[in-house]
Parts: sequence; structure tokens; C-alpha cells
Amino acid sequence: MEILGIDIGGSGIKGAPVDVTTGQMLTERYRIPTPQPSKPNAVAEVVHEIAKHFNWNGPIGCTFPSIVKNGVMYSAANVDGDWVGTNGQKLFAKKTRCPVVVLNDADAAGIAEMEFGAGKGQMGVVFIITLGTGIGSAIFNKGVLLPNTELGHMEVRGKDAEHRASDRVRKDKGLDWEEWADRLNEYFQRLEALFSPDLFIVGGGVSAKSEKFLPLLNTRAEMIPAQLLNDAGIVGAALAAKSLVN
Ligand code: BGC
Repeated sequence: MEILGIDIGGSGIKGAPVDVTTGQMLTERYRIPTPQPSKPNAVAEVVHEIAKHFNWNGPIGCTFPSIVKNGVMYSAANVDGDWVGTNGQKLFAKKTRCPVVVLNDADAAGIAEMEFGAGKGQMGVVFIITLGTGIGSAIFNKGVLLPNTELGHMEVRGKDAEHRASDRVRKDKGLDWEEWADRLNEYFQRLEALFSPDLFIVGGGVSAKSEKFLPLLNTRAEMIPAQLLNDAGIVGAALAAKSLVN
């Protein structure tokens, strides 16, 4: 079964058809920069462009970097504020004339990792934490997702954790790996004190360089890098849209 997966981020919108039985992308991803400002109509136009590029008229799964409940966005930390209260799912379906499922980007990455990546077969309490422009979180217990957890906005030292420890902060402040690891340790140890997960899976683009910072992190729970790297969002979005077909 093939589903078009689309991953909407603050800087790029990427898509590819995915074979949801194997988790493999069937072609190279197609990427278009995120319009600035990232207003709903402009972003929906890009989603439509991506569907057109693949001549798509089947189901589409789409990630979004915010709280998404029943297709409606309820936050907008790293996208235009007009998204709050918008039914993105309806908007994308109208533009593409395809059935669409929209879900949080970290939840999508988590679904992909649990099915085909680092979390395969893990039945305990698993936290997938994505380090990028923001910090995203997905929690699984016995393989079941608790959606929209938003742990990037947990307060650390009176600030949103993602304003202290995201990969963007590392780059913007020119932190070296040790300095960044200090901030990450504070964050992960706080998560551990509150939730006692069995496993942390660390995702986001920077997880490709996990050997630089994962060895510097200390948690009781095991900590491993994500495996699907940049494809996790696309694959997870497609997996989440399986419900449109079954
Ligand atoms: C958003 C989350 C998102 C994360 C990663 C945060 O700022 O609030 O919804 O999952 O960034 O993109």
C-alpha cells in the first residue's frame, strides 16, 4: 500500500510516496522551502505542489510542528500564529482533493521509529525526543502513543526547554558539543525525574552526529539515536494515514 508522506517544518516541506508495509520511501524526497511567513494558505499551496509533483490522487499523511487534534492546530511555536485554530487537515484536503491525515511532527517521527527504526519491538515506556528548530516529544507505552505531549515546552530555569537546548540554540549560540550536552543533560534528567522512561530515542537531523553528544549524556534509562533520521517524519506521516485506507 502506498501513501504520500509530507513533513512540514519551519524551513522546508518535504514529501515522498512511502510503501507503508515496508516503511521504505519509493522515490527521492521532493523539497520546497517553507513560505515565509508560513501562513496557512501559502503552506497549503506548497502541500498541493508536492502532491502535484508526484501526480498524487490517493491518501496523504502530513506532519505539522504543533499540537494537532482532530486535524486542528492548537499551537504555533515555530510557524505563523494564524495556524492556531485552523483545521489544517480540511485545508490540505480541499487544496489537494485527496483524503489527508495531519499529526504532530514528533508523534509522526515516533511512529516511524517504533515501527521500523530504533524503537522496533520496544514494549516499555519509550520517549522519542527530536532536537531541531524546536524540541519535539512522543511518548509510547507498550507500543501505544500518547499524542501531543509537547515536552519541548517544559520549563527549565524559567524558560521553555527548547529555548535552551534545541539544535537551533546550539547553532545560534555557537555552543560546542560539551556546552550543549550540559544543557541536554539538565533537560533529559528532568524528564527522567518526572517520567522514568525505559528508553530515550534521540531524533532530529542532528541525530546523524549522535556520536558527538550522546556519549556525553547521562541518564539511568538507555539513550540511543533514531535510525530513520531525516525520513522519519515522511514515513511516520504515511503510516499515520493508513487509517484512511483500512
Ligand atoms: C512544537 C511541537 C513540535 C516541536 C518540534 C515545538 O516547538 O510546539 O509541536 O513537535 O517543536 O518541531
